[in-house]
Amino acid sequence: MDKNTKESRYSRINKQLEELLTKCDIPLARMATITAVLHYKMKSFFWTGFYLKRGDNLIVATYQGPLACMKLEKHKGVCWASVIENKAIVVPNVHEFPGHVACDSRSNSEIAIPVFNQKNEVAAVLDIDSREYSNFDETDASELTKIIRLIYH
Ligand code: SME
Repeated sequence: MDKNTKESRYSRINKQLEELLTKCDIPLARMATITAVLHYKMKSFFWTGFYLKRGDNLIVATYQGPLACMKLEKHKGVCWASVIENKAIVVPNVHEFPGHVACDSRSNSEIAIPVFNQKNEVAAVLDIDSREYSNFDETDASELTKIIRLIYH
């Protein structure tokens, strides 16, 4: 998908979610709604979901796609890298990412983005896997960052 097509698709999704999320301010309900909209609108998303930060673990929450790992132990994998580095992590080839946690062997690329609460602490991680290599880029990182800002604000 070229950059313009991707940006306009995300812009429509963002607009739809802005309207939907005004109906309920419970973060988990908002995560569930974001998960469903993203997963069904973005055909290349194979697994779409959120992990909640609970102490030294990331615990699976709302998701769509194949069965996933329930608990991600600290300091290992792409999701934890996004928490530790406090930023979006784009992985073109998960098989080359040291410590990558393979919940499903069909995933080949991934993006993980920390979700900040009102106190600016990491409350969760948005994680998306694709079966296509290099499916995610800086446009996904910036557009998805805008979308997940809607959860706590
Ligand atoms: N690959 C992730 C684990 C979560 S699954 O992809 C759903 C990681 O390395 O943190």
